[in-house]
This record gives sequence, structure tokens and C-alpha cells, in this order.
Amino acid sequence: MNIKTEDIKILISEEEIQNKIKEIADKMNRLYNGEEVYLICVLKGAVVFAVDLAKHLNMPLKMEFIRLSSYNGNTSSSGKVNAVDISLPNLNGKNVLIIEDIIDTGLTAKFLLDFMDLNFKTKSTKFCSLLDKKISRVTDIEPDYYGFEVDDKFVIGYGLDYDGYFRNLKYIGYASKNG
Ligand code: IMP
Ligand code: MG
Repeated sequence: MNIKTEDIKILISEEEIQNKIKEIADKMNRLYNGEEVYLICVLKGAVVFAVDLAKHLNMPLKMEFIRLSSYNGNTSSSGKVNAVDISLPNLNGKNVLIIEDIIDTGLTAKFLLDFMDLNFKTKSTKFCSLLDKKISRVTDIEPDYYGFEVDDKFVIGYGLDYDGYFRNLKYIGYASKNG
């Protein structure tokens, strides 16, 4: 598959994304009620979403970045999650909010939630994903917060890449040719 920008069809517009982010942030601001939060951004895909979301959060916030990979640099999941860099501070007693771009099979989410469970006794651990591809799920993971449900297409933009490209698009789209 070879994607050209002119072949990308918009699935979720910039405005829809930004409105949804404000909605999610409002909910978080209400539910955390001023308590400190450790936001954990899963690189690289979630970085655009995490940064935009963080700007609307009004509790004391620390941002951590970890790097995992489960895709082969292409459009299919390898089925195995690799912890590329998962160094984190001590999160015992902290409110942990994991931010992902998309939950697909759910293996990455499961890996992370198990990792938190094994290593820390957090005050709370919540999972937030901009996109939820429920149809591809092979685990019983459900996000605490999500923006949009997407169907079985390979989507790109707003952090999501194809072979490293298109993360910088302001919208989420899919390739209308070849897939
Ligand atoms: P999971 O472990 O199968 O849930 O996959 C999660 C990761 O796969 C996400 O964090 C993305 O990096 C990547 N991914 C899954 N679906 C897509 C897609 O449609 N486009 C781009 N990346 C995707
Ligand atoms: Mg990702």
C-alpha cells in the first residue's frame, strides 16, 4: 500500500476532533475535581492528542512519555507489544491517566494496564483513547474515555501514521484507494 495525501478521505474533521477534546477534558476536570494527575502519553501516536487534551485540563498535571510499539511500520498489528522505553517515576498513590491514539486489538492497552498493576499501587488508573476500533478487539479492554468509534479501516492523521508519515494532519482520514 502506498498512500498519497490527495487520496486521503477525511473521516473526522479538525473541528470535530477539537470539540470532542474539550468535551473529554471537561469530563476529566469534573471527575478529578482538582486532584493531581499523571498523564502518560504513549508515543508516538498519542502525542498530538495528549498535548491538545492537556491544554484543556485544569488540575495539577504532570506529563510522562513512554514508547511502545505493536505495529510493524505497516498496517497490520504484529500481535506482540514491545516496550521500547517505559521508564516512569514512582506512581504509587497517584492518579494515572494513560493516553492512547487508538485501541485496536487492545493488546497495547492490556499490556499497559498489567504493567501498572504489577509495578505500582496507584490511586486510580484510567485509560483514554481518542479512537476506539471496537471491531478488532481480541481482549476485553474498554477505555474509560474515548473520542470516536471507528470501523475496520486503517486510519491516519492527528498522530496516527502510515510508515511514519501523516502524523501531522489536523484531521483523521483513511486512504480511499488500495484499502
Ligand atoms: P492494539 O495493541 O492492537 O490495540 O494497537 C494499538 C496501536 O496500534 C495504536 O497505539 C496505534 O499505534 C496502532 N494502530 C492501530 N490501528 C491503527 C490505525 O488504524 N492506524 C494507525 N495506527 C494504528
Ligand atoms: Mg499507538
